[in-house]
Amino acid sequence: MDVIEVKDITKCFGDLTVLRDFSVSFSSEGVTVIVGPSGTGKSTLLRCINGLESIDKGDILVDGLSVKEKRNLRKIRLICGMVFQTTVLFPHLNVLDNLILSPVHLLGTPKKEAMEKARYYLAKVGLTSKEKSRHNELSGGEQQRIAIARALMMNPRILLLDEITSALDPEMSSEVLRILEQLAGEGVYMLVVTHEMSFAQHVASRVLFLEGGSLVLDVSGADFFTSAKKDNERVARFLRYIGE
Ligand SMILES: Nc1ncnc2c1ncn2[C@@H]1O[C@H](COP(=O)(O)OP(=O)(O)OP(=O)(O)O)[C@@H](O)[C@H]1O
Ligand SMILES: [Mg+2]
Repeated sequence: MDVIEVKDITKCFGDLTVLRDFSVSFSSEGVTVIVGPSGTGKSTLLRCINGLESIDKGDILVDGLSVKEKRNLRKIRLICGMVFQTTVLFPHLNVLDNLILSPVHLLGTPKKEAMEKARYYLAKVGLTSKEKSRHNELSGGEQQRIAIARALMMNPRILLLDEITSALDPEMSSEVLRILEQLAGEGVYMLVVTHEMSFAQHVASRVLFLEGGSLVLDVSGADFFTSAKKDNERVARFLRYIGE
């Protein structure tokens, strides 16, 4: 069964229809990259998937659970871990305490076990030395790596990542992308909105191209960067625009 089924949804903000009769499914494998011009509904789609925005028509099922049912949202958010463009860790807690907070309080993981797991993920994102640091003592790239570790602490089936490197300078951004590539290699399933085309080309097993609230193209990563780039005028225009 597909983990996420977006079934013919329409999403409006007032008079503005952002997603129109939009359908797509995601099974749990690989990295799906979502690209498209600014304002086209990419963030809105991710936010609808984990119930941060309500939908006006249609339905979204996550592991068979409808996002329209309030009581499903907690489970849905456990299945879909999400990391945003900017992340704010709880400022009064150090990194380790930030990481164990939800597992201990929401999953009931024993504290000792949560600490071990937190140290495992801190090592994975290369930040073992920062376990006692607080939010304002970390660089932007470090904050995003901690945010990824924090999402992984909850054992999500899929990670939803929305432009998580776009507020970072190139060096920090490449550190974060390296971690994502590594996780992708380990089989962590991700749905990634990004403008980082070299990253996308490297890891995407599937690329969705959105424009004007519709799914224009849904192809393999390899096809997107070869035939679509060459033959699809809208894709070519988009890639030229963002400098690829
Ligand atoms: N809460 C909101 N209220 C009103 N309009 C909104 C809201 N959130 C998004 N929009 C509008 O919906 C449209 C789609 O926004 P969205 O953030 O999904 O675009 P995007 O594809 O993620 O763009 P970008 O690449 O710039 O991040 C935009 O026109 C935006 O102004
Ligand atoms: Mg966006």
